[in-house]
Parts: sequence; C-alpha cells; structure tokens
Amino acid sequence: MRVEHLPLARLTTLGVGGMAEVWTVENLEDLKKATQAPYRVLGNGSNLLVSDKGVRERVIRLSGEFAAWSPDLSGWVGAGALLPSLLQAAARLGLSGLEGLYGIPAQVGGAVRMNAGTRFGEMKDALEAVEVFHDGALHLYQPHELGFGYRRSALPPGGIVTRVRFRLSPTSPEAVQARMALVDGARKGQPKRKSAGCAFKNPPGDSAGRLIDAMGLKGTRVGRAMISHEHGNFLVNLGGATAAELFALVKRVQSVLPLELEWEVWGEVEAPEVSV
Ligand code: FAD
Ligand code: EPU
Repeated sequence: MRVEHLPLARLTTLGVGGMAEVWTVENLEDLKKATQAPYRVLGNGSNLLVSDKGVRERVIRLSGEFAAWSPDLSGWVGAGALLPSLLQAAARLGLSGLEGLYGIPAQVGGAVRMNAGTRFGEMKDALEAVEVFHDGALHLYQPHELGFGYRRSALPPGGIVTRVRFRLSPTSPEAVQARMALVDGARKGQPKRKSAGCAFKNPPGDSAGRLIDAMGLKGTRVGRAMISHEHGNFLVNLGGATAAELFALVKRVQSVLPLELEWEVWGEVEAPEVSV
C-alpha cells in the first residue's frame, strides 16, 4: 500500500483539483485499513469536478489484485482495470458484450458506479456479478440488486466495487470491431480537449447538448474553461482552468436550463463572481 499527497488535477481527466491524501490499495487488508477513516474512492477520474482546495477525506485508488484480470477475460476482473484495455482484449478475442462502452475512459468500478454507457449499451447489461466491499467485508451482488438506471446505481453506502464478472458471448473479432466502429462513429462530434465527458444528464427524450446549443451558449468562456464549440454538453479545460471557473459555466447553463449535473463534484466548489 502507498500513501501519498497528490494534486487530484493529476488524476482526473478535466485536469483540475487540489491536494488529497491518496491511498493506493493492493488487497483486502489494505482496503480494511484505508477505510478506517472517512474516504472517497477514485476511479479514472473521468466524471469528476474536484475542488481547487482538494478534499479532506482519504482518496482510495484500486491497484494490485483489485486491478488484475486474465488476458482471456474469463473469471474476475479487478475494478481498477481500465475499460479501453478490456475492450481491446474483447475485440481481439471476438467476445461480444462490451462494445457499447467503446470510448469511455473509465475504470470498471467507476463505470459500474455510474452505469456508464451510450445508446448502444450500458455497463449493467454487461455484468454477471459484482463484488462490493462494505462494512468491513466483501459481498457478492447480482446486477439486478444494484438499482441501476440511466447514469445511476444504488451501491450500499460507502460501497467500493472491487471486482466484476462480465457476461460475454463468443463471436468473431470482425463482428466485435464492426460494432465498436459504429459506437465510435456516434462520438465524432465530441471534442478531444480535456473534459469529464458530458457535464449534464440528458432530460427524458432530449439531449442536453442540443438544448445548450439551441440557447446559443456554445463558446461561452470563464477564464480557461469553455463550453465546447463542438458539443454543447462538453465543458472543457482549455489548459489552466480552475474548478471554480468550470463550476461557473455549470451555473450559467443551469440559470437558463433545468439540467441535472452528471459530473460528481468533490469538495467545496464555488463559482467566482464573474459575469458570463
Ligand atoms: P471516477 O470519475 O473516478 O468516479 C466517478 C464515481 O464513481 C465517483 O462517485 C467515484 O467515487 C465512483 N467510483 C469510482 N470507482 C469506484 C469503485 N471501484 N467503487 C465504487 N465507486 C467507484 N460516460 C458515459 O456514461 N458515457 C460516455 O459515452 C462517456 N464518454 C466520456 C468521454 C470522455 C472523453 C470522458 C472524459 C468521459 C466520458 N464519460 C462517459 C464519463 C465517465 O467516463 C463515466 O462517468 C465513467 O463511468 C467514470 O468512471 P471513472 O472510473 O473515471 O470514475
Ligand atoms: N446536438 C446538437 N448540438 C450539440 C450537441 C448535440 O444539436 O452541441 C444534437 C445532435 O446533433 C444529436 C443530438 O443532439 O441530434 C444528440 O447528440 P449526441 O448524439 O452527441 O448524443 P448526446 O445525447 O449528446 C449521449 C451521451 C454521451 C454518449 C453519446 C453517444 C448523455 C448525457 N450523453 O450524448 O455520453 O457518448 O450519447 O451515445 O447521456 C457522458 O455521459 O459523459 C457521455 C459523453
């Protein structure tokens, strides 16, 4: 186990966030120690807006046996494994079931927690079983027990996903690659700049990006944070943005549209007093 003081800007895709005590755990003993004080669990940091002041709680990262997986994707897959690596393996092996998650830069645990997905498929549909650490021990769940919905799950309080088993069916590498290419095609309008994916959930039957676009908000800037010209639901860091600047954009959008934040906010984030 390693305990380090690190800026969370380095561990999040938006590239913002202050200092935290980061506990990298390798096994169950580590996890038991790390969870003896208030904590948060970090995946790949791809859905997080972290305060410029950082967070007070311990930040737990999964490594060692909680990030391990066998190259044939059989058996348990550690929650710290990266989805893009697993999808690459699935394509090579011709195993179908994960294609809808193509392009999502998440760890398995973060994707379970968020029920990450696209209109081609969600994490919940790819799962056979989920192992969750809570109340000092590991517990096994069937997917239907975890309250999955659109970008939502109901893990037990304080629950840390440690491992999953996927439900994959054998087909051909070509068939899997073709489906992944289809999902990739649906992402063509998404910007390459630093982001945390879509900032807001889509309201039923509509697209938050379309609504933000229709309000003429694309290109709105606060400091080094901007509503992408390419896709209205991507609030991007142009380089050197602060959490406060990004949050000011969130507030600007919410002042004209009743959209629910998809990003999770860690720590105290306040928008600066600026007119945008
Ligand atoms: P983090 O952002 O680190 O954490 C998110 C939440 O999960 C936090 O509450 C955290 O505490 C919790 N968590 C993390 N690991 C665990 C664990 N092991 N156990 C319990 N809780 C845990 N999302 C989509 O759904 N669809 C998309 O198409 C999509 N496209 C994206 C494209 C880009 C370029 C980017 C940057 C993001 C995109 N996202 C998308 C958003 C993001 O990838 C997902 O929300 C993803 O599920 C977050 O996973 P993560 O591992 O990064 O989790
Ligand atoms: N649109 C606009 N202007 C914009 C953006 C979009 O008019 O600025 C229009 C598009 O032309 C299209 C419609 O809105 O007709 C939907 O857009 P898109 O296909 O880009 O899908 P989305 O609803 O914005 C959702 C997910 C993405 C996921 C894609 C692909 C949410 C909040 N977003 O985006 O997920 O990658 O579909 O399936 O559910 C995420 O959750 O972080 C995320 C990136």
